[in-house]
Amino acid sequence: MNTDVIPAPTHLRPGIGRFVVEASTSISADAPFLPLAQYLSEVLSPAIGGTLKVQKSEPLAGATSFIHFSTGDANLGEEGYELDIHPDRILIRASKPAGAFYACQTLRQLLQSEVWYIPCLSIQDQPRFPWRGLMLDTARQFLSKDFVKRYIDLLAYYKMNRLHLHLTDNDAWTLEIKQYPQLTETDRWLWQADVQKSRGVYSQEDIREIVAYATSRYVVVVPEIEMPAHSINSQLAMRDLLCPNNPWRKAKPDWKQWPEVEPGCTTWPDQNLIAAEYCMGSEKTFEFLETVLTEVMDLFPSPWIHIGGDEYLGNTWSQCPLCQARQATLAHEDSPEIAALHRNAKGDPKKYLLYRYGMRRMAKFVVAKGRIPIMWDTLAWGGKYPAGAVVHQWHPCGEQDEYEQTDVPGNPIVDAIENGHEVINSSCSHLYFDYDMVKTPLDKVYGFEPVPDQLPEDKRKHILGAHAPVWGQRPENVDRQTFPRLLALAELNWSAVGQRDWASFQRRLPSHEVRLKDFGKYLLENSK
Ligand code: ACM
Ligand code: ZN
Repeated sequence: MNTDVIPAPTHLRPGIGRFVVEASTSISADAPFLPLAQYLSEVLSPAIGGTLKVQKSEPLAGATSFIHFSTGDANLGEEGYELDIHPDRILIRASKPAGAFYACQTLRQLLQSEVWYIPCLSIQDQPRFPWRGLMLDTARQFLSKDFVKRYIDLLAYYKMNRLHLHLTDNDAWTLEIKQYPQLTETDRWLWQADVQKSRGVYSQEDIREIVAYATSRYVVVVPEIEMPAHSINSQLAMRDLLCPNNPWRKAKPDWKQWPEVEPGCTTWPDQNLIAAEYCMGSEKTFEFLETVLTEVMDLFPSPWIHIGGDEYLGNTWSQCPLCQARQATLAHEDSPEIAALHRNAKGDPKKYLLYRYGMRRMAKFVVAKGRIPIMWDTLAWGGKYPAGAVVHQWHPCGEQDEYEQTDVPGNPIVDAIENGHEVINSSCSHLYFDYDMVKTPLDKVYGFEPVPDQLPEDKRKHILGAHAPVWGQRPENVDRQTFPRLLALAELNWSAVGQRDWASFQRRLPSHEVRLKDFGKYLLENSK
């Protein structure tokens, strides 16, 4: 009998017999869980060719086949649940609706769809980490609204709860901003005309639809607006965001100098090229970013707003009078520890003062609006960002950053937490799903431990969870890069440490290949 649940539940005790879904099966629920009872009725509808009857409060007296949702112990937390399956009844207990939703996902996985029965068992389950995320890079290769919704369904099925959209980059700006229609009305993706790009823009209406879809599946959509780097596209759309003496203000860059290394992926500009970051000395930059983020915060109810912050070069800043004037006012913020991290930086070693100024200012803006800023860990180290800012870790420990020529602190996660931040772990050594399966095979993802050994016990709660970016993939490649590694990510995020067992995961995986086909065309060749 199938009990191949992924992620593995915290406690699963097999029982005897099975519950058969029949036309006479009724669903009842305490008031907070009524919408979930309705949802489950729809999920089970193929079993009987119609929807099951749903009612508030207790099961009907004398009912011989029912499913009942009730309020469980507060210890189950926001997302935990208990599920008891007997031959004549299924009891679901949760303290919050998200927990009942995850009980429904477990039921969906347990259901034998050929004959519509569910094995008797008892489960108590709750996640190890509150943040279980995937990032889609819609700026390098646009992914349609329906594509994104399909991923929301997949995330929910595996009890993942964060979808991060990388909406802007050098290549394109893919979110409609009412105040600045020029960001999206010119198809700047054409500058890579020799590459077959997937192109598109989300209208604000599309985003509302995506967010509503995700909310009903307990997935938070976290938007990312990149700054100060990875933003050439918007600077070319609005030239006064460039430093005033940047030649690109007048002449369009010659993109032929910016070769493709592989389809869909630009190389980093050579140091001799004018790599553009927003001018950090000009107030126009901040007016622009604040206007954009205000619209973003109106559209996305997410408590977290990602403001990018990775891989700046700052080459133009050292030649710009506005940037230099601002940098001079920041000299007193320098410190020997931070200066030491930048001792290998190319160009002006003090350029990080400007970078930090811009990121801090935008982070404070987000905090003032009652949201939580997230920043890639780049140079967050020792950075005195606003309390509550979340650091999005991507540098593996102890390596040099190849773009910024800065030394990553011995353990950047420990460093961020010691500076008062929570951390999302997307260490590129294990969690970049755009890396191929040779570099990052399934067992490597499965074995990843998001909490570094050095972190003291009382600080471990500051690691929110593991989160996999899928950078720059064409739509038809995203499935192949993401599956089945997403299932390993789901399990390492949800299941208790002692519950993680590679041999057991491998045994449970094949039945999921069958299930995934129900979601559409899936490319699971990597798991063979
Ligand atoms: C990153 O990979 N630049 C976050
Ligand atoms: Zn400037």
